[in-house]
Amino acid sequence: MHIKNEISRIRKNFFETVKNIKSVEQLLNIKSVYIGRKGKVSRLLKSIPELPPNIRPEIGKALNTLKTEIEAKLKEISLKFQQHGKGAGEIDETLPGIPFYSGTRHPLNQVLEKIADIFFSLGFSLVEGPLIEDDWHNFEALNIPEFHPSRDMHDTLYIEGHKNLLLRTHTSPVQIRILENNPPPLAVIVPGKCFRRDAVDASHYPVFHQVEGLWVDRDVSFSDLKGVLLGFAYRMFGDVKVRMRPSFFPFTEPSCELDISCTVCGGKGCSTCGGQGWLEILGAGMVHPNIFKNAGCKEKWQGFAFGMGVERIALIYYKLKDLRDFYNNDLRFLEQFR
Ligand code: PHE
Repeated sequence: MHIKNEISRIRKNFFETVKNIKSVEQLLNIKSVYIGRKGKVSRLLKSIPELPPNIRPEIGKALNTLKTEIEAKLKEISLKFQQHGKGAGEIDETLPGIPFYSGTRHPLNQVLEKIADIFFSLGFSLVEGPLIEDDWHNFEALNIPEFHPSRDMHDTLYIEGHKNLLLRTHTSPVQIRILENNPPPLAVIVPGKCFRRDAVDASHYPVFHQVEGLWVDRDVSFSDLKGVLLGFAYRMFGDVKVRMRPSFFPFTEPSCELDISCTVCGGKGCSTCGGQGWLEILGAGMVHPNIFKNAGCKEKWQGFAFGMGVERIALIYYKLKDLRDFYNNDLRFLEQFR
């Protein structure tokens, strides 16, 4: 039982001694006296084989516990030294501070904010819509009948057990919801998540973000659409060339797409723009009369709508090639957007 007393004594001594540690040198010295290779605890550990076999496990355990306690206490004190300078009560102001990790806004959110700010300055306000949509709002009311290719199971993620419910494939259903609930005139943008059953590659991800825009009034014309979109493109991308191309969307008529000159090659043609010199940034058009009808609007209104992919805008804005980087949670990547 003599050895048990010795263990208690060592513990008591140690905790008495550390109360008075004033310097890192002292700390290291105490460390070696107690748990160094030839220290008090180590010496007892080494003597275990000489003990009667029946008490070896108990003593071994007690010694290891003591060693852990000593290590923890020394660590605690050494951390205090690091934080407060070299000695208790003394603060060494010449030491570098402890780096403080501050988070950053995610690049996609930064781009979304920039997009939103531009439209806020043009008089748009912001609304949101549900991520789970019904078939009517996501497709039918937008002039997308049952046989339309985008209703194919390959594109749309349906909610199990609810034939009529799905994860919205675009933000356009919110056009209908807004018109159902708010009498025009109105000008809104609708940012949010969208979902499609896409395989992941450099430009596809099953979850992505869009910003929808909708401006409705008595006499909104295609030239208003052009003015707003060009203004957006210049303020988002700076000194670029812009072109509008005829296109097709079931819920706008006429429809167009907006391209900007490639921000990597300036329009000469490179791998980023596929040799074309142009990058498509959004789809748009004049609101189809059926949209007003399907949303229950009784009066005669005119308007335009547009929709853009936030990931795509962000890739172009930051001159990146692979949207998976946005989702990999690699701090080395994300920190660059501080
Ligand atoms: N909803 C369309 C899409 O997902 C984009 C769009 C929105 C086009 C509004 C025209 C008007 O691609």
